[in-house]
Amino acid sequence: MKYGFIGLGNMAGAIISGMAASGKFKNDNIYGYNRSEGKTNALRDRHGLIPCKSAAELVSKCDVIVLAVKPQVMPSLLEDIGALIKKEQTVITIAAGKGCEWYDSYLAEDVPLVRVMPNINAKVKAAVSAICANSAAGDEEIKIADGIFSTVGKVYHIEENMFPAFSAIGGASGAFVLMYIDALSEAGVRAGFARPLAEELATATVIGSGLLAMESDEHPVALMNRVCSPAGTTIEGVCKLRELGFESAVQQGIQAIIDKDRLL
Ligand SMILES: NC(=O)c1ccc[n+]([C@@H]2O[C@H](COP(=O)([O-])OP(=O)(O)OC[C@H]3O[C@@H](n4cnc5c(N)ncnc54)[C@H](OP(=O)(O)O)[C@@H]3O)[C@@H](O)[C@H]2O)c1
Repeated sequence: MKYGFIGLGNMAGAIISGMAASGKFKNDNIYGYNRSEGKTNALRDRHGLIPCKSAAELVSKCDVIVLAVKPQVMPSLLEDIGALIKKEQTVITIAAGKGCEWYDSYLAEDVPLVRVMPNINAKVKAAVSAICANSAAGDEEIKIADGIFSTVGKVYHIEENMFPAFSAIGGASGAFVLMYIDALSEAGVRAGFARPLAEELATATVIGSGLLAMESDEHPVALMNRVCSPAGTTIEGVCKLRELGFESAVQQGIQAIIDKDRLL
């Protein structure tokens, strides 16, 4: 199979690296086209990517075309290549905010399109990716997308109307976690740790608690209650965060992301 990526930035680079590291695509070819050459050459040297001179050349050579440019570049790209794509090919888009119907208006009837929303944790193969597809895509095309995105993390099949919520909880909320790590590190510095150690402790604790929640059958609150001894120290901190509106702030932050996404 011939896979082609148009736009070789952060996300495409992470996905191509995941595909290469998985060893599952050894008998396939991965092509790429990027506006500037530097990223193309780096991926060629690191992963054997085959560079194309234009998006049209890539379309003429590949079975699977992954659109990985920014959403605002997508209209001009599709004006150039939309009509060149045939129904035997599979289009996969990872751009935020644009629905299957939007792409269908640029593609010939019956061209299979799979919409995927990965997140930047793909860089460390710990992404969560949502997948949905247009009516022309069948099991085979969805399996192709599953094959690619499972090399960088977990894949979830959801209804398209849930994409804004998925983008918030499975994507943008990563920024909240990083804010939390920073706040925790700062608290560590205030308590007397050197900043690098405070940051390492904060990050390791977030990873550890995430793994605990992931691997346990218990509800996160049940796990939390276990570390809150009666009249102990932890329960004091938990109550203070609740008093300051911790949970409500997180939920309002997520809702703000969903509201903005629905306006795009
Ligand atoms: N980053 C994330 O966390 C994330 C998560 C989910 C989905 N996404 C989606 O993934 C897509 C890519 O995001 P990104 O973060 O990887 O962006 P990025 O790092 O800016 O990569 C975009 C790449 O597209 C190239 N490009 C621009 N116009 C082009 C054109 N006409 N033809 C070919 N290549 C072109 C750019 O080339 P230059 O080198 O010339 O700039 C750049 O390398 C976006 O649609 C975004 O919504 C991103």
